[in-house]
Amino acid sequence: MNPRFIGTPREKFSFFNTLLCLVKSLQGQCVTVDLRNDSYVCGLLLTVDGFMNLSFSTAVYCDPQGNEFFFENIFVQCRNIRYVHIPEHVSIINNIKNEVAKEVRNKPTGRAMDKSRKAKKAYNQHMQTVASLHRH
Ligand SMILES: *[C@@H]1O[C@H](CO)[C@@H](O)[C@H](O)[C@H]1NC(C)=O
Ligand SMILES: *[C@@H]1O[C@H](CO)[C@@H](O)[C@H](O)[C@H]1NC(C)=O
Repeated sequence: MNPRFIGTPREKFSFFNTLLCLVKSLQGQCVTVDLRNDSYVCGLLLTVDGFMNLSFSTAVYCDPQGNEFFFENIFVQCRNIRYVHIPEHVSIINNIKNEVAKEVRNKPTGRAMDKSRKAKKAYNQHMQTVASLHRH
């Protein structure tokens, strides 16, 4: 699974500023999610996007009457989620730390810095050009 988080700035903001990172850290595990209409889904959590839409494989959907339905794949829209059960064996703090560390580690900071240094140099060059134009 690709740990690198890809998404819009808004999704990135959610990742670092909400518990989205905790839910994301559960990818690859069996998770139970209560839906807002009193049904729930229990299955292998495949992906969590930046809105917290969830995709499951080999999942059981259980309706409010307790009838179970098996699905190869289920996609749960974030707005249908009431809450996500964190499995008991999961250390919440460690998972958050690891997930955020993964994200920070994967950032191509070196190249981004090179780019900004170049941009700064170019900007200074432009300013000098402008200044010299005024002098003439
Ligand atoms: C509950 O919500 C889920 C997700 O939107 C939907 O698939 C399911 O059919 C709904 N169940 C009931 C009983 O409304
Ligand atoms: C995920 O949820 C957001 C917000 O409800 C929605 O805009 C987006 O289209 C959803 N993604 C998918 C693949 O449905």
